[in-house]
Amino acid sequence: MSVSDISNIAKAAETDINSSADFAGLEFIRVKYLGRQGIVAGLFTDMRNLSQEERPGFGKKLNELKNSLTSLIKEKQASFKKASVIDNAFDPTLPGVAADTGSLHILTQTIEEICEIFAKMGFSVIEGPEVETEYNNFTGLNIPLEHPSRDAFDTFYLKGKNGQQKSDGKLLLRSHTSPVQVRLMKSVKPPVAAVVPGKVYRPDATDASHSFMFHQVEGFLVDENIRFSDLKGVLDLFLHNLFGGEVKTRFRPHFFPFTEPSAEVDVSCIICKGKGCSTCGRKGWLEILGSGMIHPNVFKHVGYDPKKCTGFAFGMGVERIAMLKYGISDIRMFFENDLRFLKQF
Ligand code: PHE
Repeated sequence: MSVSDISNIAKAAETDINSSADFAGLEFIRVKYLGRQGIVAGLFTDMRNLSQEERPGFGKKLNELKNSLTSLIKEKQASFKKASVIDNAFDPTLPGVAADTGSLHILTQTIEEICEIFAKMGFSVIEGPEVETEYNNFTGLNIPLEHPSRDAFDTFYLKGKNGQQKSDGKLLLRSHTSPVQVRLMKSVKPPVAAVVPGKVYRPDATDASHSFMFHQVEGFLVDENIRFSDLKGVLDLFLHNLFGGEVKTRFRPHFFPFTEPSAEVDVSCIICKGKGCSTCGRKGWLEILGSGMIHPNVFKHVGYDPKKCTGFAFGMGVERIAMLKYGISDIRMFFENDLRFLKQF
């Protein structure tokens, strides 16, 4: 019977208390140590056998043990109580927390809507890389070396490894989706009909209507005996599906190096119905896309016979279409990831 026995008992009691799993188990341990017939009471009885000198020190230790076990047991009881309160707090009759499912970005939705209209007409939907060769982005599309858009100020050029240039010229971030025309026609024989959604890059200063990155959907169709009237019919059908049957369409002569003849296509203003407003600049018309009959030189570049093949191509800006359709006034809103904007769509 010594003070070191007390500390051994303290250790054993602590382990017992900590490992108890519920009120009943803890009560069993409390009785084992602190009950009237318990270990601590037994030690108090045994104190009688100690000498006068030993008794006070032993008694003090024993009281400390009793107090510390009492408070450990109380703490443990409180922790069981807390857990049971949490258990009881579950109310299966309360309505559940709705899961936040999110939605597709409005640009993705617009791209899908555009591509779906063409898919119904039999066009495939394909994609191409955002890093392009100078050849695919310009040369293959009959854009001559001296054309201003080849200038470093209008295109993001990339540095090749060790400054080396590939045989297809420098690498760049594509400035339009038209290079995918070259890619696809080089790899498959006509007839082809495809639409190509994707990102394009131009070093424009950012403002309400310009962004250094934006999205285009390209489209082209090549076969024998494809005429300008086919282009008109397809784009008419597309624009009526996209903006509603009541819009008027207008084809204005224009110039693109890779199409001849070329046309810009307008729809009657969807805001003022053609009367003239601030959105259409009082003109009553909105410019939507560029188009034309594919230039024979493009066919030569991709290895198609320009005497046999004819086709048309078109390209449109997705942000512009979404802005007009949904009344969005600033292109930067698409890219700021502000949930207050994104959640509206
Ligand atoms: N690539 C042209 C542009 O970015 C659009 C276009 C595509 C025009 C196909 C005609 C034919 O402006």
